[in-house]
Amino acid sequence: MELPFDGAISHYFRNEAPRHIREAIQDGSDEEVLDASYPYRTLMKKKSYAERMEGLQRQLVRLQADVKASGKRIVVVFEGRDAAGKGGTIKAVTENLNPRVANVVALPAPSDREAGQWYFQRYVDWLPAGGEIALFDRSWYNRGVVEKVFDFCTERQREQFFCQLPGFEEMLVEDGITLVKLWLNVSRAEQLRRFLAREQDPLKQWKLSWIDIEGLKKWPDYSNAIGETLSRSHSGTVPWTVIRSDDKRRARIAAIQTILRAVPFDGRRDELIGTPDPAICGGPGLWS
Ligand code: ADP
Ligand code: MLT
Repeated sequence: MELPFDGAISHYFRNEAPRHIREAIQDGSDEEVLDASYPYRTLMKKKSYAERMEGLQRQLVRLQADVKASGKRIVVVFEGRDAAGKGGTIKAVTENLNPRVANVVALPAPSDREAGQWYFQRYVDWLPAGGEIALFDRSWYNRGVVEKVFDFCTERQREQFFCQLPGFEEMLVEDGITLVKLWLNVSRAEQLRRFLAREQDPLKQWKLSWIDIEGLKKWPDYSNAIGETLSRSHSGTVPWTVIRSDDKRRARIAAIQTILRAVPFDGRRDELIGTPDPAICGGPGLWS
């Protein structure tokens, strides 16, 4: 089988990946978490996951009904490195929802015209109207991380972004939008394992891009840019929730719990939603 990008991922895995990462992947089974610092050794069992998810899905449907009836506006920003699980988590959120209420916003790289606009301008177009939930698969935070790592913007543009950011987000909140910011945090070994799986799977190869391949060597640059971005954009009004996503099942549950707890709605049952697991879900302190 011909691999995309000339098998660049498997090439990196065999020849360049740090040895402990390679060994962790070689030794680990699918139901095992590779990163030794992750608080659980195995993924959540499928059956417990399905049961837990069922209750949360029902609550999401109640939330949707309330959002429609009351005209609430909700924005959820999903951020994280490539293969952190943003796409899968968004899918878990939207699974039983009406796409007219819950819409996914996954913008491509800015066009030449957009590149000449106010940086936040193209995102504003996709903010929710009353009765809508906008789920951003990546967001304006590109300027904090990927644009820095790949030099897609100047230092000056990035500084301006950080200066305007609190005002921009606070304005949304001030106007009545509920803004939930989720940062999915994947370990280096797990990211590489997911990339390898994508490379081999014709149904998933489309998720790989040259940025993922070049990004493999830029893990520390990403780490620096992420650390800076989290510390410069976390505040009481617009806090980050960091979710360790090596176990994608636990991560999806924590993400949905966080969304459900961020907004009061008719029919909300806190005892059913539960509290996100503090071992994998919390403030920027959880990121490393
Ligand atoms: P994704 O992980 O969303 O599938 P990629 O890993 O290919 O996509 O790219 C990561 C992000 O970098 C995307 O949001 C993409 O729009 C952005 N990006 C790619 N090229 C540019 C560019 N030239 N300028 C600004 N952003 C870019
Ligand atoms: C993810 O897994 O985080 C998203 O699906 C995007 C990607 O990494 O390609």
